[in-house]
Order: sequence, then C-alpha cells, then structure tokens
Amino acid sequence: MHRRHGSGTHCCAVRPSPLKPRVHLFVCANRREDGSPLGPGCADAGERLFDILKSEVTRRREYGDVWITRTACMGVCPRRGAAVAMYPRQKLWADATPADAAAIYAQAIADVAEAARDAAEPGGGAP
Ligand code: FES
Repeated sequence: MHRRHGSGTHCCAVRPSPLKPRVHLFVCANRREDGSPLGPGCADAGERLFDILKSEVTRRREYGDVWITRTACMGVCPRRGAAVAMYPRQKLWADATPADAAAIYAQAIADVAEAARDAAEPGGGAP
C-alpha cells in the first residue's frame, strides 16, 4: 500500500513495532568460499558466539530486553573471530570469539540498565 504524504512523496505503509528490545546484538555468521580474498567470513566463530549468546538470553529469561540476531556480513570482516554490533548504543566489535561471549553479554546487560535509567528520567525514553 502506498500513501501520498504532504510533501508529495510516496512510501510504503510501515508501522512501528510494539516490540523492541532495550539492547539488540547482531552477530555475523557469514561464511565465504575457500580462498576468498575477503577471508573466510565470521562463519564458525559467529555461529558459536550466536548460540552462546542466545542460550544466555534463554537461561536468564531476558527475552524482552536482549535480542540476539544472526546476520550476514556487516563489513568488518575480521580475519579471526566474528563481528558483533550492539544497538542502540552503537558498539561494534571485531575479532570476537566464543570466549568473549560472557564479556559481550555483560556489556549488553549494562546497556539494558542504562536504557532503563534513561527511560525512567523525566523526558527520557531513549531508544
Ligand atoms: S564476514 Fe562477518 S563482518 Fe564481514
């Protein structure tokens, strides 16, 4: 469905989702062909890191606050480990390995707390 706006431009009908996490982690698990000049991709490290982070959300039952999404390439393309991005506070790590999962999750929880404090302040409600 297209709507005409006052400016005369068209856009698709979209609506804001009522569901949104306080923190959203994107974990690259892109896999490239052997011999790619761009390297192997985040591949196994990203898959393992994604699984660990998802398991942690489940274990802690923080489904509403922390979302973990497996992605394709985010343009970082580390030679080892995986790229992980965290929003809304715009953190981006390269070379993350499964051994870093606990530290990354701890940072996510710190950001959840910070987002909750921001939302509680008068005029708050930061994303
Ligand atoms: S392959 Fe993971 S960021 Fe490019």
